[in-house]
Amino acid sequence: MKNKNSPIAIFDSGIGGLTVLREVQKSLPYENYIYYGDGKSCPIGNLPHSEIMSITINAINILVERGAKMIIIACNTATAVAIKKIRELYSIPIVAIEPAVKPALNSSKSGVIGVLATQRTIDGKPLKELCARLVTDQKVVFVAGNGLVEIVEGDGVLSASNYSLIEGYIEEMISQGADQIVLGCTHYPFLIKTMQEIIGSRNVTIINPAPSIAVQVEKLLATDALLNKNGGKIEFCSSLDKRYNDFIEKNYYKLLSL
Ligand code: DGL
Repeated sequence: MKNKNSPIAIFDSGIGGLTVLREVQKSLPYENYIYYGDGKSCPIGNLPHSEIMSITINAINILVERGAKMIIIACNTATAVAIKKIRELYSIPIVAIEPAVKPALNSSKSGVIGVLATQRTIDGKPLKELCARLVTDQKVVFVAGNGLVEIVEGDGVLSASNYSLIEGYIEEMISQGADQIVLGCTHYPFLIKTMQEIIGSRNVTIINPAPSIAVQVEKLLATDALLNKNGGKIEFCSSLDKRYNDFIEKNYYKLLSL
């Protein structure tokens, strides 16, 4: 039976969702959390739709079985492909993440924003519909960050060629006039320092949608009278072995110091 003490479950293909967990945990430190990273499937950003769908459903089934009171899909790619179906299939409260196009458009002075995301997020219907609804005379530059998830899931050492890859993506958006860069993949905030270094003194803002997820989570839990004031545990688990679970945990604490 779900109650206040039941965990909030967070799912991502790998460690990217930790950037969401960090923000939610900051706002709601007395909740219990279970984080599930499907390291075995990662990266999913270029997989066929049917595979991303079954990876997402599988993760949600695991987390429902673990007694979660709410699921946060902390993966833009899973949201882009599966959110409609997931909402049809499950009655549990679900919070999903999508690129923060609206705040970027509202803050842009140049009228150009960049969205850096996986290929499937860029191709996905939700982002297309969001842009169709919100974009009037502004321009959105979409860039697929191929290879970035692999960097984040790697050994934490940034090689010169990886630096150039990140630089190439950032410059592609800035050279077309973008003054706001939306991070449309939850892995990318791990690279924020490098991105800021590349941007330097130019007037370009990086937008991470994770803080707005925390607001949604709190609202939804309050509506269902499920807010917890007595918890505070975080459990890290994955589709891989203990080594990967430890990798997730280590990266969570690394993130806290970024
Ligand atoms: N963190 C996932 C996202 O937000 C990464 C996708 C991947 O595994 O490529 O899209």
